[in-house]
Amino acid sequence: MKLLIAYSSKNGVARRCAEMLASFLSPTIEYDLVDLASDTPDLSAYDCAVLGGSIRMAKLSKELRAFLKKNRDVLSNMESALYICCGYSHLYEEYRDISTPRKCRFSLGVHHFGGELKPDKLHGFDRLVVRSMRKRINEADFEDSDEVELSLPEIIPENVKLVAESIKKLERL
Ligand SMILES: Cc1cc2nc3c(=O)[nH]c(=O)nc-3n(C[C@H](O)[C@H](O)[C@H](O)COP(=O)(O)O)c2cc1C
Repeated sequence: MKLLIAYSSKNGVARRCAEMLASFLSPTIEYDLVDLASDTPDLSAYDCAVLGGSIRMAKLSKELRAFLKKNRDVLSNMESALYICCGYSHLYEEYRDISTPRKCRFSLGVHHFGGELKPDKLHGFDRLVVRSMRKRINEADFEDSDEVELSLPEIIPENVKLVAESIKKLERL
C-alpha cells in the first residue's frame, strides 16, 4: 500500500504531526511525506492520502484549501483522512465544519491533532497573534464568566495514533 501524507504548515506544528503519524506506521507501509508549499502531489500514485494543516485567521491555508477543492472527487473515492491543527481547541468543530469542502468525503474521517501557541518560537506578526491568543486563553481560565474553560493547546498523540491505526488496518485487508 502506498500512502501520501501531505501537510501545509506555517510554523512547523502540522509538519510535526505529519512526521508523528509516519512514526506510528508499521515499517512495511510505504509513504511519501509532502509539503504542499513546495509540491503538488498526484493522488493517482497513492492508495491512501492523509492531508493536514493548521488554522490561521479561522481558515486552513490557501494551498491546502485549493488542493482539497481540486481533488475533492478523487479524495472521496479513495481511502483518505484530513487533520486540523488549531490554537483554540474549543473551536475545532467549527473549523472542521467550515474547512471540509462540501461533498468531500474522508473515509478515515476528519481529526483534531491539537496545536501549539508558543510565541517564543515565533517572530513578528505571528508572535504577536499567538501571544494574544495565549493571553485570551489564560484570562478566560480565571474569569468568573460563562466562557467555556479554555486550556493551552498541545499536539494530541492519541488522535494521531488513531489515524495510524486505521491505516494499519487497511494494510491488513
Ligand atoms: C497568524 C496566526 C493566526 C492564527 N489564527 C488562528 C485561528 O484563527 N484559530 C485558531 O484556533 N488558531 C489560530 N492560530 C494558531 C495556530 O493554528 C496554531 O499555532 C498551530 O499549531 C500552528 O500550526 P503550524 O505551525 O503548522 O502553522 C493562529 C496562529 C497564527 C500564527
